[in-house]
Amino acid sequence: MTVTITPTGGALGAQVSDIDLRAPLDEETVGRIRAAFLAHSLLLIRGQQISKEDQVRFSRCFGEPVPHPTNTRDRDPRVSEITIISNIVEAGQAVGALGNDEVAFHADLVFLHEPGSVSLLYCVETPTEGGNTFWTNGYAAYDALDPATKAKIEGVKAVYVHRNPAYNPPTPPQHPLVCIHPESGRPTLFISPSSAERVVGMDETEGRQLLDDLFAHAIQPRFVWEHSWQPGDLIVWDNRCTMHRRESFDNSQRRLMLRTQLLGPVTKEL
Ligand code: OGA
Ligand code: MN
Repeated sequence: MTVTITPTGGALGAQVSDIDLRAPLDEETVGRIRAAFLAHSLLLIRGQQISKEDQVRFSRCFGEPVPHPTNTRDRDPRVSEITIISNIVEAGQAVGALGNDEVAFHADLVFLHEPGSVSLLYCVETPTEGGNTFWTNGYAAYDALDPATKAKIEGVKAVYVHRNPAYNPPTPPQHPLVCIHPESGRPTLFISPSSAERVVGMDETEGRQLLDDLFAHAIQPRFVWEHSWQPGDLIVWDNRCTMHRRESFDNSQRRLMLRTQLLGPVTKEL
């Protein structure tokens, strides 16, 4: 199989075509996919009719998928690495997480010492309108910072906490505002302001202002790529160098996505 890799032409991401994820991939193909993933931070693969087992097997191209650390309620007992993102309610119970509301820009599981590294989302059902997902390019956002800001944030860390105390480790993690991506070795802006509790070494107001400024910079349209889902789409993204958000959609429509998750350090130890 020779896969075709086509950059989106937008702020990040590439589409992988001439690929069928129902069968195991050969080593050369896995190598190409991993290289494309590191180069583009996000891969879109369309038209896939895959089982949960196929999704878990494909997720292993990027490391070891784990049962989602917080989204346990929705976990399929037969394939524990899969969780559900959905607004569908059956017999009074939500079948998945995140409902139909807007989900603000974030990187996944930043309140862990080893946050979400790679996330995969497979679209089974999608509304006719809304529910698009948007990703930011953290490398490009970092590169475009002015030299004074780069100097100001070098070596500075933020403390991350989840608003639900049950999810937090005994001591909260500190992640650098500028991470060195553990695999690409490139510097990237790493922020997820809604879970950032404070900036180490700054008072509350100064730290919040810095995070707000970096956030406003990072989500400028020139750094953002938007995806409108179709059933059969699979997207793999790299949380270490991107943030994502989802727009809301009408709750009378169904959206059903299957999700796998990998965890890992967000920065190379220097
Ligand atoms: C996620 C997430 C966005 C979406 O699964 O981590 O943020 O489009 N989902 O459902
Ligand atoms: Mn997310």
